[in-house]
Amino acid sequence: MSERARYSGISAINHWVTALLVVVMLALGYAVAAAPSDAVEDYVLGIHISLGFFVFLFVVWRVLFRWYEGFPSNIGPTAVERWSAYIVHRAILVLLVIQVITGPLYLWTENECVDVFGWFKICIPLESLSVIHEPTEWVHVNFGLYVVPILLVLHFFGAIRHYAISGKREAPSDM
Ligand code: HEM
Ligand code: HEM
Repeated sequence: MSERARYSGISAINHWVTALLVVVMLALGYAVAAAPSDAVEDYVLGIHISLGFFVFLFVVWRVLFRWYEGFPSNIGPTAVERWSAYIVHRAILVLLVIQVITGPLYLWTENECVDVFGWFKICIPLESLSVIHEPTEWVHVNFGLYVVPILLVLHFFGAIRHYAISGKREAPSDM
């Protein structure tokens, strides 16, 4: 992974498209958790899974691109800011990869398919791995309901601080 001075235009597009997609995925996930009936739960989960197919593709592209391009080195004026951004940015990307892998894996390990809006289905029969079905679900649901949102809240406050500080001085790496 190389080091660069600031984020590229493609990075900024990747950032905001992912932000939009992930916030929608979280909202759908929370709606599944709070569904008032099985029918509503199934319907919302169907949208979560269908959109999840595209989120999978985008997250893979975005992480590979970040790997290729590297993170900028000068991302904060203080050591604490640089260190916390270093950890939180990488943690968000790792968590997103875990989410887009455990989501489909949960389905395939009980012999279900990823049905994309009824247009097409992706079926990978992994029932032989049924031993990881429950742990996969646990990781996906708990990371989705608690860990990803906590990281995003930290990130949000970090970004506010970043903008507040860069309002007072020249920003090295605005998104
Ligand atoms: C209101 C919402 C958001 C704001 C204002 C915001 C702002 C920013 C800023 C300013 C940076 C660059 C930080 C720097 O220069 O060091 C950044 C980086 C980053 N943000 Fe956000 N962000 C938001 C939402 C999100 C969401 C929802 C996600 C995840 C789904 C996300 C994931 C990332 C990641 C992984 C980076 C590291 C660089 C990269 O790979 O793109 N952000 N964000
Ligand atoms: C950024 C990506 C994702 C996030 C943030 C996310 C978030 C969530 C959340 C919060 C839940 C909990 C709902 C509940 O309480 O039951 C959930 C459930 C679920 N998600 Fe995702 N998800 C993501 C990607 C995916 C993908 C790519 C798929 C499959 C293509 C998927 C499939 C599922 C399934 C099948 C469940 C239900 C699990 C169960 O029945 O317990 N998710 N997701």
